[in-house]
Amino acid sequence: MKKILVLLALGSLALMAVDNAKAYQNCVMCHGKKGEKIALNSSPQLASLTQEKLRNSIGAIIDGTSKISKRYLSMHQTKLKDVSQREDETQAFSEYIFNLKQ
Ligand code: HEC
Repeated sequence: MKKILVLLALGSLALMAVDNAKAYQNCVMCHGKKGEKIALNSSPQLASLTQEKLRNSIGAIIDGTSKISKRYLSMHQTKLKDVSQREDETQAFSEYIFNLKQ
């Protein structure tokens, strides 16, 4: 029984990793493979943000309280539709982006 639980836990970890990589594919063309680009001459380099800042910015985009310009807000929300509002998912996705630069 324990073995099955461990396998299940490992399985869901693997799934999460795949999802984050897939979700970040929606960002690469503007923010770069490692978050190194300044998107459309105006974004911060995602790679330069702290993990906390990334998590808060992404969380704010998802829940609609972000201060980024309106025309970019709904575009980001669409691109982020695979990342749910759950705090742990935002956290895991931010961690994934934060670790891209290494
Ligand atoms: C079409 C180009 C484009 C795509 C695709 C895109 N972004 Fe952005 N992103 C921008 C621009 C431009 C800004 C700056 C917007 C502003 O400051 O008004 C920005 C800003 C941001 C910020 C900073 C927000 C803040 O609070 O200052 C984060 C974080 C971010 N993007 C994450 C993402 C993630 C994650 C994805 C993929 C799910 C993504 N972006 C997809 C262009 C893009």
